[in-house]
Amino acid sequence: MNGRKILIGISGGIAAYKVCEVVSTLAKAGTQVRVILTDAAQEFITPLSLATLSRHPAYTDRDFWQPTHSRPLHIELGEWAEILVIAPLTANTLAKLAGGLADNLLTNTVLASRCPILLAPAMNTDMWEQLAVQRNWQQVLTDERFCGIQPSSGILACDRVGAGRMAEPSEILAHIESLLHTGGKRDLKGKRVLISAGGTREHLDPVRFIGNPSSGKMGIALAVAALHRGAAVTLVHTMDEALLPRGVVRAIAVVSAEEMREAMLSCFPEADVTVMAAAVADVRPRDSVSEKLPKRSLPSSLALEVVPDILAELGSLKQAGQKLIGFAAQTGDIVKPALEKLERKKLDAIAANPIDKIGAGFNSDTNQAILINSHGKQVEVLPCSKLEMAHRLYDFVLGE
Ligand code: CTP
Repeated sequence: MNGRKILIGISGGIAAYKVCEVVSTLAKAGTQVRVILTDAAQEFITPLSLATLSRHPAYTDRDFWQPTHSRPLHIELGEWAEILVIAPLTANTLAKLAGGLADNLLTNTVLASRCPILLAPAMNTDMWEQLAVQRNWQQVLTDERFCGIQPSSGILACDRVGAGRMAEPSEILAHIESLLHTGGKRDLKGKRVLISAGGTREHLDPVRFIGNPSSGKMGIALAVAALHRGAAVTLVHTMDEALLPRGVVRAIAVVSAEEMREAMLSCFPEADVTVMAAAVADVRPRDSVSEKLPKRSLPSSLALEVVPDILAELGSLKQAGQKLIGFAAQTGDIVKPALEKLERKKLDAIAANPIDKIGAGFNSDTNQAILINSHGKQVEVLPCSKLEMAHRLYDFVLGE
């Protein structure tokens, strides 16, 4: 995000305080951030807070009506921004956007710009559910320029529990990162994407298992990137439900390789794009029991058996038009073994990860890879966030 230009518009709601974290995180990442506050926003947070966090004076309607610039401020800002984020978006500002009205700096800048606009509404549940508000929301989303982050449900500042809570800063930041990458294109719209995520566990008894340190972060990033590109996403995963992104069509929790196999096989026929990002345990104990074994009864050695290769099975079932992508976690020479896997498992593409490199191993927030497709094309992706890696992988596969 370093050096990119993000304009944040804040309208008047209590969720405005959460936007401070978005601005702060962006500025710390080296992003150029400019902020516009509406008059109502200033009842909740001050221009000084935002100026301090963004390392730049924050703009208000005062700057609009009493300009110190030679060019109109809304034109300057509209041309400057790569992405405009309006968070929180109030019912009032939403109504203005739906009607194409422009009566302050923020709404004039919307009309004077052409960049993608990310909208994060926040309001009381009754307000959010009003027919007029819902109509306005649907109306703005018909314009491809607008990308909406549905408010979540939870305890609201008015003590109600219901829909209307603004998306968390981390979710807004992920959307910004995606928009910077895609420019707002939704090239997976109408496509069904199936992703496996996490690490399987092969239990010896209820408390002991063979597993691996996979965090599932790469699989989650693939799901988030696919959602942001408009896909209907199914996630077969081994993670805590709380870690899953909002908006997946279906999430199937599994533990073992066999459970993951069954879930993947049942969803695969419907999928346009399938990505096997899970770290599947390669072997399992040949014998397992459902009651916990006392220490004294633990075997001194374990008889193991190989688990089914899910990806290879999917490859053998693949139909024309379906895309199948795998990962190869490797040390040393990463290309040769990845090429062998690509061919043997009948994949369309594979991401070869050098897990011996810093910032590319299990549980890391970053990744690096060489992407290889079935036509022999290779693209190196230098260390980047897992969300960026996910986008680069979709670019690679969809651009074939
Ligand atoms: N995979 C799978 N089922 C398995 C094992 C792996 O579907 N039982 C998938 C992984 O999700 C990943 C790819 O296959 O997409 C990894 O290929 P694999 O050959 O299993 O890699 P390694 O386990 O690293 O193989 P090796 O140790 O032989 O290099």
